[in-house]
Amino acid sequence: DSIEKGGYEHFMLKEIFEQPRSILDSMRGRLELVAGHLNMGGIRAYERKFMNADRIIIVACGTSWHAGLVAEYLLEDLARIPVEVEYASEFRYRNPVITERDIVIAISQSGETADTLAAIELAKSKGATIFGICNVVGSSIARATDAGAYTHAGPEIGVASTKAFTAQVTVLTILAMIVGHKRGTLSDTRLQELMVELGSIPAKVEKALLLNDEIELIAETFKDVPNFLYLGRGYNFPVALEGALKLKEISYIHAEGYPAAEMKHGPIALIDENMPVVVIATKDSSYEKVVSNIQEVKARKGRIIAVVTEGDTVIPPMAEFVIEVPATSEVLVPLVSVVPLQLLSYHIAVLRGCNVDQPRNLAKSVTVE
Ligand code: AGP
Repeated sequence: DSIEKGGYEHFMLKEIFEQPRSILDSMRGRLELVAGHLNMGGIRAYERKFMNADRIIIVACGTSWHAGLVAEYLLEDLARIPVEVEYASEFRYRNPVITERDIVIAISQSGETADTLAAIELAKSKGATIFGICNVVGSSIARATDAGAYTHAGPEIGVASTKAFTAQVTVLTILAMIVGHKRGTLSDTRLQELMVELGSIPAKVEKALLLNDEIELIAETFKDVPNFLYLGRGYNFPVALEGALKLKEISYIHAEGYPAAEMKHGPIALIDENMPVVVIATKDSSYEKVVSNIQEVKARKGRIIAVVTEGDTVIPPMAEFVIEVPATSEVLVPLVSVVPLQLLSYHIAVLRGCNVDQPRNLAKSVTVE
C-alpha cells in the first residue's frame, strides 16, 4: 500500500502531485508543438458531424460534470457551437429533445457511472452521435460510445477526483481547439498561441504545487469552520463548484460554489465575520468584476482567501490569505486554478482526521442510480 502511494500519505495527495505528468500524458500524441498541429484519433471519422452539429449536449455527474461546464465555455468560445451541460441523472428521465444532428459528449473517469451510461443509451436511441471522454480503458461507457478519447490520467484511487478532472479538461480543450480551427472560428494564429500555452501548463501546475506548505497553513486556520463559500466567474465558475465539492466530500464541511455575481441574489446573506470565502480571482476578462465581488464580501466582514495571478497587487490588501498561481491564458486557467483548491480540501480533511481516500458514504464509481 505504502509503495503504491509512492511515499505520499494518501492516494489523493499522490494524485494531486501527479498532475504535471498526467496532464502531459493526456496531451501525448495530440499536442504536436514542433509540427504545429493537434490530433485526436477519436474525432477523425466524426469531423463532419462536429462541423455540422446543431449543438453539443454534455452528460456527466459530479466532478466530470464540472469538467463538462468548463467544456461549455471552451466549445462556445472557441468553436461557436451551442452547448448544454446536463446532469446525466436528470437528462435520462426528463424526455429531452435530442436529434440526429446533436452530438452528445459523455464524460466519466470510471466509465461505469450508471446514470451517465443510461443517458448515453437514451441519446443513442434518438440517433445522436455519442462521443466519450473516459479514463478507464475498455469501461462500459467507453464501449457504449460511437467514438471518443481516453484521458490517460492513469488509475485514480482516491474517491475525490483530482488528476482525472485536469486530464478531462485538457482533452476537452484540445477537442474544442481542433473543432474551432476546423470550423474557422479559431484562427491559425490563436490556435498556435493556445497550443504553446497548453504545452506550458504542466510546468505551471508544477509551480502551483509548490504552494502546498503555504496552503497547509491556511488549512490550519480554517479546519474547524462549519461552512465555506467558493466564488468564481467565467472559466473559474466551474472551478468554484469543483473546489466546494472537493471540500464537502472529504472534510464533511458544508461548502457551496457560486458564480460570484449570483452572490447578491442570496448567498450574500450568509456572509459575516465567520464565513470563509474562497474567491478565484485570476487576471482575466472578469477580473474587475470579481474585485468588486471581493469588496462586497469584505464590506460584510467575510474572510477572504483569494486565488490570484502571480504579481497581483490589487487583491492582496483586501484578502486574509492570498494564493498566487502562475499566469496563463483565460481559457486554460481552470487547469492551474483548481490545484490550490484540491490542496486546500486535502489539508483541511487531513487536519480534521477524515478518511481522505475513502470518505464516508461515497464510492469511487457509482454503478447504481
Ligand atoms: C468526484 O470527486 C466524485 N467522487 C464524484 O462526483 C465523481 O466525479 C462522479 O461520481 C462521477 O464519476 P465518473 O467520472 O467516474 O463518472
